[in-house]
Amino acid sequence: MTSYAGVLETYRPFLDIPAHTRTVTLLEGNTPLIPMPKLAETLGGGFELLVKFEGMNPTGSFKDRGMTVAISEAYGRGAKAVICASTGNTAASAAAYASRAGMRCIVIIPAGKVATGKLAGAVAYGAEVIQIDGSFDDALNLVVAISERHPIALVNSLNPYRLEGQKTAAFEICDVLGKAPDWLALPVGNAGNISAYWMGFKQLHERIKTTLPQVLGVQAEGSAPLVLGHPVEHPETIATAIRIGKPARAEQALEAAEESGGCIIAVSDDAILKMQKLLAANGVWVEPASAAGVAGLAHELERGTIDLKGKVVTAVCTGHGMKDPDIITKDMPKPHILPSEMSALEDYLAREN
Ligand code: F0G
Repeated sequence: MTSYAGVLETYRPFLDIPAHTRTVTLLEGNTPLIPMPKLAETLGGGFELLVKFEGMNPTGSFKDRGMTVAISEAYGRGAKAVICASTGNTAASAAAYASRAGMRCIVIIPAGKVATGKLAGAVAYGAEVIQIDGSFDDALNLVVAISERHPIALVNSLNPYRLEGQKTAAFEICDVLGKAPDWLALPVGNAGNISAYWMGFKQLHERIKTTLPQVLGVQAEGSAPLVLGHPVEHPETIATAIRIGKPARAEQALEAAEESGGCIIAVSDDAILKMQKLLAANGVWVEPASAAGVAGLAHELERGTIDLKGKVVTAVCTGHGMKDPDIITKDMPKPHILPSEMSALEDYLAREN
């Protein structure tokens, strides 16, 4: 048996990457596609729901798929430093892969709007973290301008190799199902991931005639430029990962939704948090943004604008719940305090039942 070697080596013949690419991997990918029968029932039933749990990647988010390829390309051509703007997950992922390749990593983040687990990750992996008094969109403008003037590789999803890596999630889903799902639902922020999935599904469709899914992209109501049809200057949402007002891959995302016969919609922060709880009640704890895809499905089912009877539906849960512990701990019930005695515990059990 050959052991698993990460997304780049597993799918190399399907990736459009230059010959100088030198693999830097943490054995990312190969994430579970988890059946969610109870949650499907809660949402009305009659369809098969599977969660692609991307929080199981080495740094806790789907970004690792794209980062292994972007860093491998930069490393192979001798780049010494990488830079990115980030709402947090890209930063942690870039930092991990850059450290493995011995490269300098600079990340620019919006001050006060990055979840604790992501910031801690970026620091732990050794990134130089710079906070700006501005949004993700401001940070992205900055890093694009800097990378044009200095020999620093840009590893945001404007970098085409990020998408080459991220499309491998579509390959994995088709490998497991033996076909594409009927619907794919996922959160949309800077719009790289929805573009990458669509590239992946289309590529398989062209090469080996798999079916194509309809794609449901989901934004948060307070930062929904693709739904409104114009940039949002001051995006706001509890789902800080997708707090983005001017997505870099806006056109490609709209194309993916249209070509696939799907759509891009927005859901409220309340709906996102409610779905985060429902997913956790089914054993899958994701960060708020990652619940947006399933929240979008619930929203469309409630409105009767989608018919999923007899369909296979995959929802992408992009990041792990541990990325953003504060969202849970700030409102959680205080733990019970008991004396360290068997009788106290017995009294408690009798009382609470
Ligand atoms: N879900 C999570 C957990 C994310 O971190 C992101 C993006 C998305 C969804 C949206 O993906 O941008 O490809 O549409 N996070 C970026 C970051 C912006 O900096 O970590 P997208």
